[in-house]
Order: sequence, then C-alpha cells, then structure tokens
Amino acid sequence: MVVLLSRLLLLTAAACAQFVDQEYHSRNFTVVKSPGNRNVTVAYKEPLGACKTAFSSQKQYTGWVNVPGDFSTNLFFWFVEAREKTDKLTIWLNGGPGSSSMYGFFTGNGPCAVVEKGLDRYETVARDWGWDRGSNIIFIDQPNQVGFSYDTPSNGTMFFPNSTVLLPASADESTKNPWSVANGTFSSMNQQFTANTTEQAAFAVWHMLQGFLSAFPQYLPPPPQPVSINLFAESYGGRYGPIFADIWDEQNQMAPVAPAAANQTTNSTRQIQLASLGIVNGCVDQEIQQALSPKFATANTYGFKAYSDEAAKFYTDKFNSSGGCGERLRRCASLSAALDVNGTGTVDGVNQACQRANRACQDADMNYFAAGRSVYDLASPANDPFPPYRFVDYLNQGSVLAAIGSPINYTLTSSTVYFAFDATGDLSRGQTIPRVAKLLNKGVRIGFIYGDRDYICNWFGGEAVSLEVAKQAGGQYMTQFPAAGYSPIIVNSSYIGGEVRQFGNLSFSRVFQAGHSVASYQPETAFQIFSRLTTGSSVSTGKPVDLGTYGTSGPANSTTTAKLPKMPDTVCYIRAFQDSCDKNAQNLAASGDGVVINGVLYSSSADWPLMTKTAASETATKTSTATLTGAYTATSTPKNSAGKANPPLALHITLLLGAALLPVIDWI
Ligand SMILES: *[C@@H]1O[C@H](CO)[C@@H](O)[C@H](O)[C@H]1NC(C)=O
Ligand SMILES: *[C@@H]1O[C@H](CO)[C@@H](O)[C@H](O)[C@H]1NC(C)=O
Ligand SMILES: *[C@@H]1O[C@H](CO)[C@@H](O)[C@H](O)[C@H]1NC(C)=O
Ligand SMILES: *[C@@H]1O[C@H](CO)[C@@H](O)[C@H](O)[C@H]1NC(C)=O
Ligand SMILES: *[C@@H]1O[C@H](CO)[C@@H](O)[C@H](O)[C@H]1NC(C)=O
Ligand SMILES: *[C@@H]1O[C@H](CO)[C@@H](O)[C@H](O)[C@H]1NC(C)=O
Ligand SMILES: *[C@@H]1O[C@H](CO)[C@@H](O)[C@H](O)[C@H]1NC(C)=O
Ligand SMILES: *[C@@H]1O[C@H](CO)[C@@H](O)[C@H](O)[C@H]1NC(C)=O
Ligand SMILES: *[C@@H]1O[C@H](CO)[C@@H](O)[C@H](O)[C@H]1NC(C)=O
Ligand SMILES: *[C@@H]1O[C@H](CO)[C@@H](O)[C@H](O)[C@H]1NC(C)=O
Ligand SMILES: *[C@@H]1O[C@H](CO)[C@@H](O)[C@H](O)[C@H]1NC(C)=O
Ligand SMILES: *[C@@H]1O[C@H](CO)[C@@H](O)[C@H](O)[C@H]1NC(C)=O
Repeated sequence: MVVLLSRLLLLTAAACAQFVDQEYHSRNFTVVKSPGNRNVTVAYKEPLGACKTAFSSQKQYTGWVNVPGDFSTNLFFWFVEAREKTDKLTIWLNGGPGSSSMYGFFTGNGPCAVVEKGLDRYETVARDWGWDRGSNIIFIDQPNQVGFSYDTPSNGTMFFPNSTVLLPASADESTKNPWSVANGTFSSMNQQFTANTTEQAAFAVWHMLQGFLSAFPQYLPPPPQPVSINLFAESYGGRYGPIFADIWDEQNQMAPVAPAAANQTTNSTRQIQLASLGIVNGCVDQEIQQALSPKFATANTYGFKAYSDEAAKFYTDKFNSSGGCGERLRRCASLSAALDVNGTGTVDGVNQACQRANRACQDADMNYFAAGRSVYDLASPANDPFPPYRFVDYLNQGSVLAAIGSPINYTLTSSTVYFAFDATGDLSRGQTIPRVAKLLNKGVRIGFIYGDRDYICNWFGGEAVSLEVAKQAGGQYMTQFPAAGYSPIIVNSSYIGGEVRQFGNLSFSRVFQAGHSVASYQPETAFQIFSRLTTGSSVSTGKPVDLGTYGTSGPANSTTTAKLPKMPDTVCYIRAFQDSCDKNAQNLAASGDGVVINGVLYSSSADWPLMTKTAASETATKTSTATLTGAYTATSTPKNSAGKANPPLALHITLLLGAALLPVIDWI
C-alpha cells in the first residue's frame, strides 16, 4: 500500500508515548498453582492475533511463572504447539546475558515473522522453517528482567539514542527529536533483583518449568514418566545450556519422584530428562574459544582478514602471557572451584578475578571491531541490519502487549542483567565442558551447530570445544569422534547446507553462509539439523541410524571455502540504536533532522520503502500443507555444496552476546 505524506505527518504528530495499562495483565488469565510448590503460580492466556502460525489450529500460550525467592521474579514464556501432533517438547534460549528469546522467536526459528503493512501497521506471517514444524516449543525470557520477564513494573522514560531508561518517568528533556524519547513501563532495573550467575538462573528456570509443566500436562507423558525435553540455546547459551541441564538433572535426584497419579494433582515435581542439548554458535569455553579468535579473524574460510597476520600472532602470543586471557581464566577457574563452586556470586575475590578474566579475554576482539565488521557476521557492517529488529517495535504496540497480557513494555536486551553477570565474571567461570561430557555419557544427544560467518563465538572454537568434549567423555567418544570425518549436511534435493562430524550422540555441524543466529540466515538447514538432532537420526542425511555405532566419514577437516556476499546497507532501528545506526544515522539524529517511520530512522519519508512500493504480500501462500510439515531424508547427494547463498527475503530478520559487548557509542 502507498501512504500519502500528509497522512503520514499527521499521524506521526499524533503519536504519543504511554505507560502500559496494568489491566492487560489481569484480563483473561488462567492462574494455576504448581503442584510441587504451591508458592509457584502460573498465569497465562492465549495471545490471540499476535503471531500467525502455519496452521490456525496450533495453540499458543503466553504467560508468566511467578517464582518465589528474595525478590519478585516473573519469568515469561511463549509456548507454541507443533504443526503436527508430537510429544516432542523443546526449550529455546537466546543468550546475552540479557538477550530476550523473542529474538529467536521473531527472527530465526520461531513460528512467525513481522512484516510492515503500512504506517504503524504490521502483520505477522508464518515462517516455513519455524521449529514448530517439528516440535512443541517454549521460548523463555530469562533471567529475570530480560525481555517480557520482570520483577516490579515501574514507570519510566526511555531514551532511544543511548538505549537508556530513567525511572521514574521524567518530563521531556530538551530533545530535538520527538521520537527519541518515550514513556513506558519497565522492570526495576535493579541488579539485585535478577540472577547474576548461570547457576542462579538455572534454579529459577527449573521452578519456572515445573510451573509450566503443571499448567500444561496435555503436552507431557503421564507421571511418573519423566518429561523428555530438548534444550536449544544460542550464544551465551553455550553456558546456559550445559549448566541448566546439569542442575536440572541434580534436581531430579533431589526432588521426590511423583507418585503415579494420572490426574496431575499430586504435590510433586516432574523429573526433567534431557533428550538433546543443542548449542548454536555458543560461547561454551573461553579458554578454548578465545585462543582461536585471532586465527578465525585472519584465516577463516572466506579469505577475509580482519587484521594482519602479525597482529594475529601478537594476540595469540599474548593469550598465555602474564596477565593475558589464558592466565586470568585459569586463576578465575581455580578460585571459583575452591571458593564458589556452586556459582553463588557472593564471594568478592572470585567475582573480581573472574571479571578481570572477562576483560582480558576481550582484548583481541577490539582489533576485530576496528575492521568495521559485525561480530555476528563477517559479511556485515558493524551496525548490522540483519536480522531486522522490526519485531521490537511491533511488540510495543499497545494491542500486541494487550494480546500477550504484558504489564511491561518489551525490550530486546537488559543491560542490568548483562552487568549483573559481568560483575561475577560468570562467562569466565568455566565448568561447562565436563558437564557436557557428563550429559553425553548419560545418553543425552549433544549437537553443536555453528554458522561459519560468525566471529564472536566462531566455528573454529566450536569445533575445538566439540573435540574436547569427546576427549573428556572418554570411552568410544575419545577415539571415534575425532576419527569420524566430515560428511555433507544434505538439506534437500538441491543443496548441501554444511558439513558435520558425528559419532553416536555427539555432533558438530558447520553451517555454510550463516552468521551468529544460524536459523535467521539458513532457516531450512537449521531446521533439518534441529529435526535430526531431536529425532536421533544422522545429521548428515536424516536417515535413521544406530547411534551406538554410527559415525560420519569423510575428510578429517572441514575446508570448504566460499566468497562473502555483498555487504548490506545499514538500517537505523531506533529501538536498537547502538547496534544498528551507523555514523550517518547518528549525525542525522543529532541534527534533529530525519523522520522515524515504524521504528526506523530515515532522512526523509520518501526513503521509506512502502512510500513508493506496495507492501509485498510476503505471506508464504502455500497451497499444499506438505510444504509446511515434515523433515527431509536424503536419498542422494546434490552437487551444489555451497549452501544457499541468501536467505529468503521475507525471513530477513538477531542477538546472542548482547549489544553490551560492543563498544559503547559515546554520543548524545
Ligand atoms: C478471552 O479468551 C477467550 C478464549 O481464549 C477468547 O474467546 C476471548 O476473546 C478473550 N477475551 C479477551 C478480552 O481477550
Ligand atoms: C511458601 O511460602 C510460605 C510463605 O512465604 C512459606 O512459609 C512456605 O515455606 C513456602 N512453601 C514452599 C514449598 O516453598
Ligand atoms: C504508571 O503511571 C500511570 C499513570 O500515572 C498509572 O496509572 C500506573 O499505575 C503506573 N504504573 C505503575 C506500574 O506504576
Ligand atoms: C541518555 O540520554 C538522556 C537524554 O539525553 C540523558 O538524560 C541520560 O543521562 C543519558 N544516559 C546515559 C547513560 O548516557
Ligand atoms: C512522560 O511522563 C512524564 C510524567 O508523567 C511526563 O511529564 C512526560 O511529558 C511524559 N513524556 C512523554 C514523552 O510522553
Ligand atoms: C486425583 O487423584 C487423587 C489421588 O489418586 C484423588 O484423591 C483425587 O480425587 C483425584 N482428583 C481428581 C480431580 O480426579
Ligand atoms: C497439595 O498441597 C496443598 C497445600 O499444601 C493441599 O491443600 C492439597 O490438598 C495437596 N494436594 C494433594 C493432592 O496432596
Ligand atoms: C596456552 O597454554 C596452554 C597450556 O600450556 C596450551 O595448552 C595452549 O595451547 C596455549 N594457548 C595458546 C593460544 O598459545
Ligand atoms: C554445593 O551444592 C551442593 C548441592 O547441590 C551441596 O551439597 C554442597 O555442599 C554445595 N557446596 C558448597 C561449597 O556450598
Ligand atoms: C550476586 O547475587 C547474590 C544473590 O543475590 C548477591 O548476594 C551477590 O552480592 C551478587 N554479586 C554481585 C557481584 O553483585
Ligand atoms: C510502551 O507501550 C505503550 C503501549 O502500551 C506504547 O504506547 C509506548 O510507546 C511504549 N513505550 C516504549 C518506551 O516502548
Ligand atoms: C585438522 O583437524 C585436526 C583435528 O581433527 C587438527 O589437529 C589439525 O590441525 C587440522 N589440520 C589443519 C590443516 O587445520
């Protein structure tokens, strides 16, 4: 559709920032108490109209689990039923720390994407390769205060250009741009009122899951059978995944087993058994991964050099030098093992040593930033427009907040949580690889999935982590996993999406032409890998195999090379200002010129694509349901082994290591 300029200006002037109506939250909620702990309550509803799924019969629930503790914790979930009936249940976690899982939901593996339809008008379209194609799936915003999760709703004023919220709401500052400030309702942003280590977060999410499971027994096998779950996590999820899984498993040992009462009214908790753990471009182990950053920055498979070989050698040598990343990590690990083994974050000496390690390990990254590329994608500018942040604006529409039932505005990242975790040096505390090895030996399928254009948690490091897991797991894994060669990941009859090394329950997949959030770049490849991991089939072909003996064969190293695609133009999303707005956009904002349409800053309204073009009917008009269901099993190997060059346009939609890791743009 085409919008007339006069109407545009009129409406823009009339737009007025507001607090969130607290009534949204009480309207139409079902409230359930968790049988295991009557103090845990779940309040949920159906978010009617908020996200279009492939089939209208798919149920969705949005809700909050109120978890008791020293401070108010309300963890948000968005549940989506699978397209076809299945007993598979998957949890999706984005990283950060402080990143909302709505990022994955709306830009990667979730059921729908947001498209612009007109001025302040959006529509959601079902995503062909959303993971609801193969599983029931819960997207969780955690820890407390991330995304839609909150402690105490608090009115405040948000300044978009520096992504800062001031509490309480303040009267207009003398801003040149009416768009640069809006009132809203947020969490308290008090660092004391959230988890500050992955261990603390794990307990809160365990309670949250118990609440969720009690509210939705229809998706579970009857007790006392354990609940089988697939946990997939991205980026900082390289820490969340292994530690959550291990702690939940410990809870199984401690919690009383539910007596067999089919009617679900017993006062007990459910055993949560992990079927698979998927780690997508995860930062799992700093010592292994950071050591390989200089190599990836200068000797990746795209021939792109972020800096010189001399600089790479300098940083590699510096890694183990006095005060370098390696030494600091080992100090943090030994102190935390001795003084804070359970990750309480309460021991000052450990916190400080580990925070210092965090700092030392970011050393080489600074040199990468200087190359002006996105840390999430070698092919993108530092202010990466992909995946698009449009959904952040969509989620803050009053009607959408009401449909979801949120008492607060939506934010993509919580700097409060980022800094709380940084204060304990959580990332540097290690202990993840032994946990993954332990899970593997307990029969959990472990899938590492890495897009090969991501720098921040790159595949060189991910591959090294997978080899170390095999070594620590011992037994057959120690010899057979490294001996297994790389086989093609056959995505469909026309192309190969990457290469995989698999032995038994352990696999490492390198995905071609994908940045950090793999599913955003290569949705079909990501889905097939997900589906094969959760089914327990060959990641290479999707064929059923005997995982007791199955291993891939092929070359010992994945050496396929390719060219980087053309660099995309930047787009300034005001709700992700520091991530997406380049120098020109910053100058435009500072000068008070420019116009904001649907959350994007343009020099003039004529630059808004819908001003001149008809809104594309991007709705994937499917005539046959066959294209929206099912997974692919290969019968032959296609010739094209370069991966799909570009993801489909409608699906162009990002965040794991939060924006907070990027250097803060110091202006306004
Ligand atoms: C409340 O939920 C019911 C059933 O899900 C739905 O039919 C109704 O429209 C909802 N009402 C509001 C105000 O959202
Ligand atoms: C529930 O909360 C009450 C009051 O705070 C407390 O006394 C009780 O021990 C709690 N029960 C559980 C199971 O945590
Ligand atoms: C925010 O402010 C509005 C208007 O003053 C008020 O009605 C509402 O209760 C406040 N919300 C919170 C969470 O304090
Ligand atoms: C962000 O900008 C607002 C408005 O200019 C200012 O009041 C606030 O202090 C800034 N916050 C930070 C952290 O720079
Ligand atoms: C935000 O709320 C404050 C206090 O209610 C008010 O003075 C201010 O004008 C509001 N700002 C905007 C941009 O609406
Ligand atoms: C559920 O099972 C318990 C124990 O077997 C029984 O006492 C109770 O009446 C049942 N409740 C319902 C709602 O069927
Ligand atoms: C569960 O606990 C609550 C409160 O502690 C009690 O009222 C209820 O009867 C118990 N239900 C069962 C099935 O034991
Ligand atoms: C750092 O030292 C450790 C232990 O001696 C060694 O295993 C590792 O390869 C070294 N890393 C680098 C980047 O030199
Ligand atoms: C750590 O937690 C375990 C139980 O999970 C407990 O047995 C142990 O005592 C704790 N260790 C410390 C040092 O607190
Ligand atoms: C981390 O959280 C714990 C528990 O809330 C708190 O006691 C501790 O002081 C926090 N650590 C830091 C560095 O803020
Ligand atoms: C918060 O949500 C309300 C809709 O309820 C919207 O009008 C307001 O602009 C939002 N504020 C922010 C900062 O996103
Ligand atoms: C090939 O992979 C092995 C580990 O499987 C590694 O030790 C070796 O350095 C790699 N070779 C090259 C040329 O990268």
